[in-house]
Amino acid sequence: MDEERSALTRLARQLHLQEYWVAQPDFQSTAPRSAAVPHLWRWADVAPVLRKTGEIIGVGAHVAEAERRALILSNPGLGGRPDITTTLYADLQLVRPGEVAPAHRHTTTANRFIMEGEGGFTVVAGEKVTMSRGDFVNNPAWLWHDFGNEGGEDAIWLDVLDVPLVTTLNGVFYDYDFWKEGDLDKTAQSVRQPPDHSHALYGIGGVAPRFVGPADRLYSRQLVYRWASVRAALDRLRGWPGSPYDALILEYTNPETGGSVAPTMGFAIQLLRPGEQTRAHRHTASTVYCVVEGQGYTQVDRQRLEWSGNDVFVVPGWAWHHHVNLRRSADAVLFSASDAPALEKLGLYREEARTETGDIVSVTG
Ligand SMILES: [Fe+2]
Ligand SMILES: [Fe+2]
Repeated sequence: MDEERSALTRLARQLHLQEYWVAQPDFQSTAPRSAAVPHLWRWADVAPVLRKTGEIIGVGAHVAEAERRALILSNPGLGGRPDITTTLYADLQLVRPGEVAPAHRHTTTANRFIMEGEGGFTVVAGEKVTMSRGDFVNNPAWLWHDFGNEGGEDAIWLDVLDVPLVTTLNGVFYDYDFWKEGDLDKTAQSVRQPPDHSHALYGIGGVAPRFVGPADRLYSRQLVYRWASVRAALDRLRGWPGSPYDALILEYTNPETGGSVAPTMGFAIQLLRPGEQTRAHRHTASTVYCVVEGQGYTQVDRQRLEWSGNDVFVVPGWAWHHHVNLRRSADAVLFSASDAPALEKLGLYREEARTETGDIVSVTG
């Protein structure tokens, strides 16, 4: 019998077959077990390294070492993979005054939250988008984009892309041949739209232009969401009770649909009032946070991630988490990016929460 079994195993291996009862595949677990772990990148630790890259790594088209100067946030649970979760990629990018990071495009979606500097800009499909602290910049898939900096200080932002998800789906295409579109020596796009073009078209709220089109239902065509108006909205709504799990949370939306900015990723801003503490929940979506204001912590399963300005942290899917604003007299504001829209489209979004009495209830039914 043992010999028969060994022979069967040998034969199966030769034929690239695995015995189900031996392999015990991971997918049989009773709940998702992401290899990604909770982690926080402290700005005080990361900023000096990022600034050093500005001094020693050249960026540009022909002579430079790098097409983009960025430090990738590599989740410690993913064995050196350049990803922040199994579905999301994130990096911190720096553009020095006078630099040009040349145009390229890709089928992955890229969104940016601006952390530092005045004078940085991106040109997306011919629209020049200036970037200031707190602005949320939206780069729909397959649109040409380049970066520049007309200011006197470094421009720094957080990039979040859907790279691991799109890679798994075999959907990644990159295009560096911007020169095909015109002049051989051209590395950056000509500006073809007036300043704040898409913000003027879509950034009003409640109305959408019907003289441009067709409407894009997959990707928001509003390329920038300005900090001043988003912060003002948070202030306006501060009297509401908010979500028990996320306090006063606002999602950046596609103005044509009211849905997420991109089909694969969603983005939000949330305000925790002085001393506010949320109740714990967990969801299949993974979330990347950037601290905009304040000081506090996020409890993720057994780990406490203590945060303050410009720290970036990650909450993997299906991990219990709640947020606490530790300051008694100041707001805390968190920007976040998640893969929830992808999970929702596939019928895989699930959420559970703890009630006040500590019971676990399903939020999604
Ligand atoms: Fe890019
Ligand atoms: Fe959450």
